[in-house]
Amino acid sequence: MQIRKMLGRASRITPRMLAFLLLIALAPYAPSQTPSNKPPDDRGVRERVDALLKQMTTEEKIGQLSQLFRFESSKNVDAAVAKGQVGSLLFVTDPAIINKYQHIAVEQTRLHIPLIFGFDVIHGFRTIFPVPIAMAASWDPSGAVREQTVAAKEARAVGIHWAFAPMLDIARDPRWGRIVEGAGEDPYLGSAMAAAQVRGFQGDYIGAPDHLLACAKHYAAYGAAEGGRDYDASYLPDTLLYNVYLPPFHAAVNAGAGSVMSAYMDLNDVPATGNRWLLRDVLRDQWKFNGFVVSDANAVKSLETHGYAKDLYDASVIALRAGVNMEMAIGFTAYGRNLSSAVEKGDITPAQIEEAVRPILEMKVRLGLFEHPYVDEARTSQVLASPEHRVAARLAAERSAVLLRNEGGLLPLKRDAYKKIAVLGPLADSQTDTLGSWVFEQNLNETVTVFAGLRTKLAGHADISYAPGVQIMRTFPSFFDDILHRTPPPVWPPEGAKEEMSKAVGLAAASDLAILVLGENQDMSGEAASRESLDLPGQEEQLLEAVVALGKPVVLLLMNGRPINIQWASQHVPAILEVWYPGTQGGNAVANLLVGDAVPGGKLPVSWPRNSGQIPINFAHNTTQAPENQGKRYWEEESTPLYPFGYGLSYSTFRFSNLKLSRDRIKPGESIEVTVEVENTGSFEADEVPQLYIHQCYGSTSRPVRELKGFERVALAAGDTRTVKFTLGGPELSYWSTATKSWVEEPSSFDVWVGPDSTATLHSTFVIAQ
Ligand code: NOJ
Repeated sequence: MQIRKMLGRASRITPRMLAFLLLIALAPYAPSQTPSNKPPDDRGVRERVDALLKQMTTEEKIGQLSQLFRFESSKNVDAAVAKGQVGSLLFVTDPAIINKYQHIAVEQTRLHIPLIFGFDVIHGFRTIFPVPIAMAASWDPSGAVREQTVAAKEARAVGIHWAFAPMLDIARDPRWGRIVEGAGEDPYLGSAMAAAQVRGFQGDYIGAPDHLLACAKHYAAYGAAEGGRDYDASYLPDTLLYNVYLPPFHAAVNAGAGSVMSAYMDLNDVPATGNRWLLRDVLRDQWKFNGFVVSDANAVKSLETHGYAKDLYDASVIALRAGVNMEMAIGFTAYGRNLSSAVEKGDITPAQIEEAVRPILEMKVRLGLFEHPYVDEARTSQVLASPEHRVAARLAAERSAVLLRNEGGLLPLKRDAYKKIAVLGPLADSQTDTLGSWVFEQNLNETVTVFAGLRTKLAGHADISYAPGVQIMRTFPSFFDDILHRTPPPVWPPEGAKEEMSKAVGLAAASDLAILVLGENQDMSGEAASRESLDLPGQEEQLLEAVVALGKPVVLLLMNGRPINIQWASQHVPAILEVWYPGTQGGNAVANLLVGDAVPGGKLPVSWPRNSGQIPINFAHNTTQAPENQGKRYWEEESTPLYPFGYGLSYSTFRFSNLKLSRDRIKPGESIEVTVEVENTGSFEADEVPQLYIHQCYGSTSRPVRELKGFERVALAAGDTRTVKFTLGGPELSYWSTATKSWVEEPSSFDVWVGPDSTATLHSTFVIAQ
């Protein structure tokens, strides 16, 4: 506006004068070093973007819609940034390189629009926290806020503004490798972890100092891939979508998530990245999302692969119309190559381009990028070295471990009872595996393995030795091989396998206690890492059985990102502790847990199958023709899980009593308070997670036998009792009915259970009546 007025008054404007005037007009965008300490007001943001949009050409707008990977080998990126053909880069993590690109964008493009740098900040940046499924196993949303706050601070300290997290895909099939990245099978727990992570990443508002933009991914239903095969199609009825797969995304949007990533797969035969129903009808119209949508990597181009678009031109038109604002791609974007001709031909209108670019620019304004485009390189190493971050990582790992079995109270270990301890297994001293998947920027040397943690903890008490015993095949062809310049697969099976195994068994024979760290290497779960068998890989089972046969006390530590088949172990190994991939401080956390300096209090966020033939298995299934026979459907096997959803033991014991409902009859829209007393009846100060489940007995559709509708992790000193309160109201009691195609809260009778897991027995009932 201002500039037009000035131009109107000037009769003859030379190019030099024009440049000067533009500089003045853009003064508010000129870089300063002061980040904002308060949220920008919405109107101000809008007006600023309006002003910017007025100056932008169609080409410049389309440039903002492109996000490119920047690898060492990418040659085209510098030129594309300088020409204003890129709005965002991903995979740059060196602050000097980030600043280099930002200088190009800010100084060489006509309108000086800064880039937004994105990265997969999934469970930490330099300080690596336990993997997301472990975070969910803590059943502690406030912990998730703390952890993602640290992750945000570290990532922001290198110049990253945008985390491609949280991953919110409900996963009920552990064959799917990406189950490790989410919160497991349940929409209620998943929604709580979703909102918490968004708050951790973004802070109180988008643009809060030391925070970054969150990205709720992969929208939506990616976790329902057929056969658990990554990228395969999902087929889901509206009832499962609305009641199970979409709620975590809705929770993230309600928590203010500024961006959403569209998923790769076909949803009911329409690719998620071209799916107008998902991206417009639900996300924008029903949920009022006003951030921006980025495609998953190359997902716009793959609309052609899916056979949903004729060619890349068609793909870019479909994706933009469907509601994908920004295209993430390797090499070049379909948007960059096609959208201007689509505008020329009238397949896309200028208004549609403007609609797509507006929320991207708004986020850049909100994040303070115009004022503060560069990262302060002098501050980076100090933030990344923070000792408090390592403490947070240790606590997180302690709080996410789940004790699956503890026969005879073998754990916690009595400190001086074992003079010689054998630590065995391929994961026991592997720094890479201790960190889990989606870790690129770690300093491996500062990662504490289980072996290292135990040696420090038990120094002076026990003589600790280590042998891997077996190896797990490490490489699996995936697109990361190229990105990470990985070496070709080793010859398999490795030479000397037999000797390694006997060395480990020999070590156990010569020790008083064996601690085995078994599971999957970090590459076995994550993207493109599905498994058809849940068995312990390689010869781990043989190693375990050989060591147990020695008759010594054995502790099994599981390091993995999905439930695995531990049927034999569940009957023969006295102590089993699930430690997931515990992160930078994993070994110290595990050592604390083993000796009782920390007490396990995590609970399973997934039902743990007996074997892969039971999949899919989840506690919130519907009741059946023969409910009394629910647990016996297979010839060979029980149809119940090995460990139920919500399960986890403690070194202490707890008693639940006095379940009370404030009312036994309510009208739709009213609420009920549920209270229960939890007593720590053991001798350890410890945490318990009271969980509330309901069952709607009848209604316009069949409802699951149980649904989780409340939980709280509470810390109790030995002998203490706490009254825990839950509220059941509209949000908990309504559901999407496929009969009415709407959200309903129906007159019905309800069961309520509260207890330590999804098999809770303390029971009451209430009624909703008009
Ligand atoms: C593909 C993955 O599906 C997604 O989760 C990730 O954020 C992007 N690649 C970027 O690495």
